[in-house]
Amino acid sequence: MKYIRARAPGKCILFGEHSVVYGYPAIAMGITLGSVCEIEALNNNKITIFLESYNKNLVFSNIDDLIVHFPPEFKQFSYCLKRFKENYTIDFNNIRITLSSTPLLSSSGLGSSASSAVALVSAINSFYNIQLNRRQISHFALDMEKLVHGTPSGIDNTVCTYGSIIFYEQGEFRFIETPNNLNLLVTYTNIKHDTGKAIEKFREFTKQNPDYSDQLLSEMGMIAREAEHELINLNIEKIGVLMNKNQKLLEIFGISNENISEIIDIALNNGAFGSKITGAGLGGSVISVGSPSKLEHVAKSLENEGYYSFHTGINRQGVRVESN
Ligand code: MEV
Repeated sequence: MKYIRARAPGKCILFGEHSVVYGYPAIAMGITLGSVCEIEALNNNKITIFLESYNKNLVFSNIDDLIVHFPPEFKQFSYCLKRFKENYTIDFNNIRITLSSTPLLSSSGLGSSASSAVALVSAINSFYNIQLNRRQISHFALDMEKLVHGTPSGIDNTVCTYGSIIFYEQGEFRFIETPNNLNLLVTYTNIKHDTGKAIEKFREFTKQNPDYSDQLLSEMGMIAREAEHELINLNIEKIGVLMNKNQKLLEIFGISNENISEIIDIALNNGAFGSKITGAGLGGSVISVGSPSKLEHVAKSLENEGYYSFHTGINRQGVRVESN
């Protein structure tokens, strides 16, 4: 029986989250954890969708039934199938789709929603031999992301499609080539992040303080530009200093909290060069950079305070598809 599996990386925003929504440049990295979408042909005259991360097994008699009855909290997935149906007359009959993200990814600000969208679009694309290219896959995933939180900048779907480290500005991007892997320590704040809520809080600050916000946003943009050069040379110490500067600016917008501050203090007090929010903030995850031995020490100290960390590096491949 026909079978396809697509894997898309998750992501860490290294610099410029939020300011990227306002058109300033940002830098993101595809990471080794990610999402997987499997599609297998069956002979049961049904469409089955198993959302493993939510433990939801959904069975439909046909695509029209699916479009009407799909749970609204996952509307991005039914939108995806509906669009394939309308644009490429696919009926999706006799298949089972399984979509899963590494457990760590969900609600941790590491791109589970964008990587799931990219994996799903890529798997359908290959299974039905539609031949969308990467750019089209990324744009398709962006339209799905818009249903999840209204105004995505496009950086998440781009990095989850292409992997590597990217410099992203207003819909355009370029790769940043580092001489070696960039090792990041990722620490979960023990608080589920909510991208929509964080974007709203950030926006509220910009409305209340328009001139000051312009100045802060533009500083964030300059930090991202400087960081590109430091990444090309992989100057970890300077990358850390820039991360700390970016963090201080993010804090002014009110998207940090006690857990985030505690993690950052522990990281910096134990020898990390830099530490900051990655992604929307108000929870999710914190990233830290430093020498491997210091990061090891930071991870142990964080664990003692009840924070789980893991080490990650660059996913250079982006989304990839395998068949049997
Ligand atoms: C979310 O990963 C990053 C934000 O900048 C939102 C976006 O870019 O769409 C907060």
